[in-house]
Amino acid sequence: MRAVKVCTSVLAGFLAINTLSARQQTAPPSAVDEGRQLFIDNCGVCHGPDGDSVPGVDLGHGKFKRASSYDNLVEIIRDGVPGTAMPAFSEYLKDLEMRTIIAYLRLMAATAYSTSAPGDPVRGKAIFEGKGDCLNCHRVKDKGSRLGPDLTEIGTVRRMIELERSLLEPNAEILFQNRLVRLVTRDGITITGRLLNQDTFSVQLIDSKERLHSLEKSSLNEYAFIDRSPMPTYRDKLNPRELADLVSYLVSLKGIGGQ
Ligand code: HEC
Ligand code: HEC
Repeated sequence: MRAVKVCTSVLAGFLAINTLSARQQTAPPSAVDEGRQLFIDNCGVCHGPDGDSVPGVDLGHGKFKRASSYDNLVEIIRDGVPGTAMPAFSEYLKDLEMRTIIAYLRLMAATAYSTSAPGDPVRGKAIFEGKGDCLNCHRVKDKGSRLGPDLTEIGTVRRMIELERSLLEPNAEILFQNRLVRLVTRDGITITGRLLNQDTFSVQLIDSKERLHSLEKSSLNEYAFIDRSPMPTYRDKLNPRELADLVSYLVSLKGIGGQ
């Protein structure tokens, strides 16, 4: 199954980055990160990042149709639901991985989004492209900048509550692939940008002017991740209504074929 491979390569990339330098302070992948990644890679395509995309099934709120408890879930994941689209994962996931996913589902239920009024994605788009200035740093399809992560598919990989948190507390949680790095060359030139790729000898990044840099690691004096997000908080810039609209717009971004 392709999805499982994606996950291991993400983790492998993570480990590679972690062993790179003692100076950068990346936390090792936690069980939560692992559970989230396993869920997104294996289940997200049908159940969605919030676990509520299959009609009548709401995995993110601890309310189940067939399962009577979380213990039951392992069996459902292992064997699937015969006669429905729910596949059996016994060949694709280890027991421990299934339990990690279930732990993540429990966490989702404990941190479920509680907004009562859903926003309006059309108004959200106007805020994204106007008042929010999001295109200065982000790209959606062929519009915007590449400094921050491309958001074209953000609605397929992030829960609503995570999107809201990104806007209110950008520093709370930064995904490792989104972190900015700061390099200082032997000649004293400082370059800040988003890490695109690296191997044992070289590193490639893109800076805020969208210039691509490729450098030999041996030519660097300093190489460190930046812990503060360059993204401003929108806590005081947007009212709750605007925030809900913006989050609805982000949720609607499901890739090139999407809205
Ligand atoms: C190809 C689409 C698909 C994938 C991939 C998928 N599911 Fe499902 N899943 C479904 C469908 C459809 C149902 C509803 C079955 C039914 O009608 O009861 C379902 C039902 C379930 C249920 C029962 C829900 C309840 O209310 O009792 C659980 C639990 C579940 N899925 C977990 C998972 C997990 C965990 C993964 C990833 C490891 C996963 N599913 C991957 C389509 C999928
Ligand atoms: C000054 C540049 C800048 C601006 C302006 C900005 N962002 Fe960001 N944003 C970033 C960077 C860099 C990251 C990646 C690091 C992080 O997660 O904080 C990010 C992360 C995010 C994420 C998390 C992405 C993920 O993969 O989880 C979302 C969602 C997001 N921004 C949405 C927005 C929206 C919506 C706006 C406009 C209201 C906006 N950003 C404005 C730079 C910016």
